[in-house]
Amino acid sequence: MEQTFVMVKPDGVQRNVVGEIVSRFEKKGYTLAGAKLMTISNELAEKHYGEHKDKPFFGELVDFITSGPVFAMVWEGENVIASARQMMGATNPSDAAPGTIRGDFAVQVGMNIIHGSDSSESAEREIGLFFEKSELQSYTKTIGTWV
Ligand code: TYD
Ligand code: MG
Repeated sequence: MEQTFVMVKPDGVQRNVVGEIVSRFEKKGYTLAGAKLMTISNELAEKHYGEHKDKPFFGELVDFITSGPVFAMVWEGENVIASARQMMGATNPSDAAPGTIRGDFAVQVGMNIIHGSDSSESAEREIGLFFEKSELQSYTKTIGTWV
């Protein structure tokens, strides 16, 4: 089953929207495979955002993402990579539609609340950077047949 890496950034943890974001993915019907509150090292931040290393905002991005705890997650389900990106909304919260996570909770591009993998290659790479295999659960939802 398809998996993606989703992370509530330090601003989302500070703003108390971890639960709301988890709730949106749960209600949508995706399955949580792993989750942890953690502080990202500079080394991990530079690897995670490696594709942006030559961009003018790279330094600020690394400083921001390492500035406090993040809530890292792996979500699983049909088409979850593209769907998570839709649920997040546009990179710049000013362009993100109301109803999306960035559209509802953020204003500035530098503090846009949430990260989600942008492709299956990114998802595999990012899950591998943030999680050990032993930290991920594989299980089936048994809605309707439980108890
Ligand atoms: P990017 O991968 O383009 O966006 P997304 O998170 O939607 O995949 O950029 C990574 C992060 O870099 C983005 O979430 C916020 C930050 N960023 C800036 O601070 N300024 C910018 O102009 C851009 C494009 C991104
Ligand atoms: Mg990106």
